Amino acid sequence: MFDIQEIRSQFSILDREVNGKPLVYLDNAATSQKPNSVLEVCHAYYTELNANVHRGIHTLSQLATEEMELSRRKIQKFINAEHDFEVIFTKGTTEGLNLISYILTQKLKKDDEIIISYLEHHSNIVPWQLLCERTGAKLRVIPIDENGILQLDYLDTFLNEKTKVVSVNQVSNALGIVNPIEEIIAKTRKNTDAYIVIDGAQSAPHFNIDVQKLDCDFFVFSGHKMYAPMGTGILYGKREILEALPPFHGGGEMIATCSFDETTYAGLPFKYEAGTPNVGGNIALGAAVDFMNRVGHEHIQNHENALLEYAQRQLLEIEGLKVYGEKAHRTGVVSFNLEGVGISSDVGMILDKMGIAVRTGHHCTQPIMNFFNIAGTVRASFAVYNTFEEIDLLVEGVKKAQRMLS
Ligand code: ALA
Repeated sequence: MFDIQEIRSQFSILDREVNGKPLVYLDNAATSQKPNSVLEVCHAYYTELNANVHRGIHTLSQLATEEMELSRRKIQKFINAEHDFEVIFTKGTTEGLNLISYILTQKLKKDDEIIISYLEHHSNIVPWQLLCERTGAKLRVIPIDENGILQLDYLDTFLNEKTKVVSVNQVSNALGIVNPIEEIIAKTRKNTDAYIVIDGAQSAPHFNIDVQKLDCDFFVFSGHKMYAPMGTGILYGKREILEALPPFHGGGEMIATCSFDETTYAGLPFKYEAGTPNVGGNIALGAAVDFMNRVGHEHIQNHENALLEYAQRQLLEIEGLKVYGEKAHRTGVVSFNLEGVGISSDVGMILDKMGIAVRTGHHCTQPIMNFFNIAGTVRASFAVYNTFEEIDLLVEGVKKAQRMLS
């Protein structure tokens, strides 16, 4: 049974006030709040277990290692990876995408092509531009229509023997649009042997992820957007691909042998986990997966979809309010502007005075903003603990902002 009050009671921060008003937290696409079960695991790690992993034979080190490896297996199950060693701990999606683009350097040459989409976050644009600079490869961008929907006909014309990478997000952070990645992957597989990278930063908090069914080569996401601590994230890569590619960072833990003449590398996953990891955070990411499993993916998705539908319906009743991607298939995000109100941050500030947290601005997606010829949007993004009453407060707040600003 889905009991929203019981879920909310697991998030102490939701009881606080902001500017004298109960907090209405609608900035979940930036980062979600953390349930007490996750916070307790963090606290317990530092009070009972703190030790470096994989390094010592002492008891604490062994216990910390066991807990982190248990968490890796939970995440393996969460995304249905075939092997636990295909799950690499990172500090977030951005690091994952930079890692992949770096280790692919030797695989690309001048005039090869990398396909991304117009809907990408800067972190799925800039690492590929850097790869283009290193190799002379070219970036091709799948365009969108006026609803923000990807124009996949262009993908058909882009895919050719020069295509070496296709990297797209499953859900757009700025607009919440759900992209047809199954179709993108199928078309790419059929026509090329390009590496397929999926940015799951905005989908892992909402959807059931099955990397084997998707048949992507890489899938990256952040922990902090799915109820886990900041500075945690996952890179999934297919075994044979990760085994064949070079390491990223050099340092402790990622070597098999090291001498001044030659260094050989550790097997997966350690080859890609140089240095001391965020042990407490990585263990707590497993606790966040436990939390999501307890609530259930179906409940999470149904509730968030209902919130989105409710929010969009009410917001669209406000005269002069435009929702970007209104007609697209979306999840968890409503991104909008008020006619005649030039600066989205003005709306955000008024909402903040009412205790309502939203994100305003370009959301690290300037190409999308340029496409719509705007500087930014007001973005409300939902998580499983949000309520319909909070949406009512948002709508009331937006109406108030409109009265004050126009
Ligand atoms: N990428 C995050 C967002 O969309 C920070 O807000």
